[in-house]
Amino acid sequence: MSIHLLDAMSREGFEQVIAFHDRHSGARALLAIHDSVQGPAFGGIRRWSYPSDEHALRDCLRLARAMTWKVALAGLRAGGAKLVLIDLAHQDREQVYMALGRFIESLGGRYQAGPDVGTGEAELRALARSTRYLACPGEEGPGELAESTAAGVFHGMAAALEHLDGAVEWERRRVVVQGLGAVGTELCRRLVASGAEVIGCDRDARRALSVGAELEIDLIDPEQAGEKPCDVYAPCALGGVLHDLSLQRVAALVIAGAANNQLVRNLHGDQLHERGVLYCPDFVINAGALIRGVRFQQEGLRVPVEEIGAGIARTLRGVLSRARTEGRSPARVANELAIARIAAWRKSTLS
Ligand code: NAI
Repeated sequence: MSIHLLDAMSREGFEQVIAFHDRHSGARALLAIHDSVQGPAFGGIRRWSYPSDEHALRDCLRLARAMTWKVALAGLRAGGAKLVLIDLAHQDREQVYMALGRFIESLGGRYQAGPDVGTGEAELRALARSTRYLACPGEEGPGELAESTAAGVFHGMAAALEHLDGAVEWERRRVVVQGLGAVGTELCRRLVASGAEVIGCDRDARRALSVGAELEIDLIDPEQAGEKPCDVYAPCALGGVLHDLSLQRVAALVIAGAANNQLVRNLHGDQLHERGVLYCPDFVINAGALIRGVRFQQEGLRVPVEEIGAGIARTLRGVLSRARTEGRSPARVANELAIARIAAWRKSTLS
């Protein structure tokens, strides 16, 4: 299925999409700036080996739009963007990120880069050699980004359990965490410390074994994660895990995870609601790193991780209670809230 880019941009209100190629390093990337009306557009760099340019473009657009929604629900004065870097074998990664940095620098701060899947501390260090517009790793930067995201997901889970049956009671809860990367591992650490039974999985078997041994959690095959009976299923790997087939097999009371764009379509949020599964919209609960990064960039402030978690839980409670009152899915309610806020700020800058 081909994508009509300009139609998609006008339908979803995108400002700009830029294709980037660097002759020297061979870097190939796409940057989508969804919204920069209120301020610089924030979004991580996803490095992934996409099967085609079209797959990369679709991912880029969806992720960028979700960043603006995240900004809107978190009440930040910023915008949303995403940069996807096509991962190609035999490239010098440092050169590729330095070239990307020069490209980002040329945008003069309209886009602010950060980490995402495939872009960790080493890549950000290479990026920092050629641009100022990023969440710096180490002492000079906001720090504790994955921890902030994990805190938001953890406190969001607790708010969802409380919403469902009046109490959190971690000691009687089983949580399945899919993806034991930066966020998934931090989330497991919190859950274990709270007394929950934690089951983890990662498609990287070595990573799974190492986190499993360190945190003393049980491991399962990644294929089984979405169907394992549990209180909370936490997708913390990639998006697109909730679709026509998979959502029929979900055996969790709550879905609350860090992965972006977990629902393949909005309709799937409604279907989960009809099946009695409480889905916590990803862009509401995974905003921790964004909040930490934006506040640091704009105010020089490192918002404490627990404060970030508590704020996200508050926002989620608002969404869940409105969804309950209106008898609609939390996904639908959160989408509408985000769209209304974005429309309001776009309107106010016109007048
Ligand atoms: P990461 O790259 O550190 O970890 C992802 C992990 O998932 C890897 O260990 C990978 O092997 C594993 N994985 C991939 N496919 C899998 C599958 N099918 N089943 C099981 N495991 C699989 O990424 P990170 O930073 O932990 O982020 C996780 C998710 O949360 C991503 O979707 C990211 O976009 C999203 N996110 C991350 C934020 C952050 O602060 N790092 C902020 C907001 C969203």
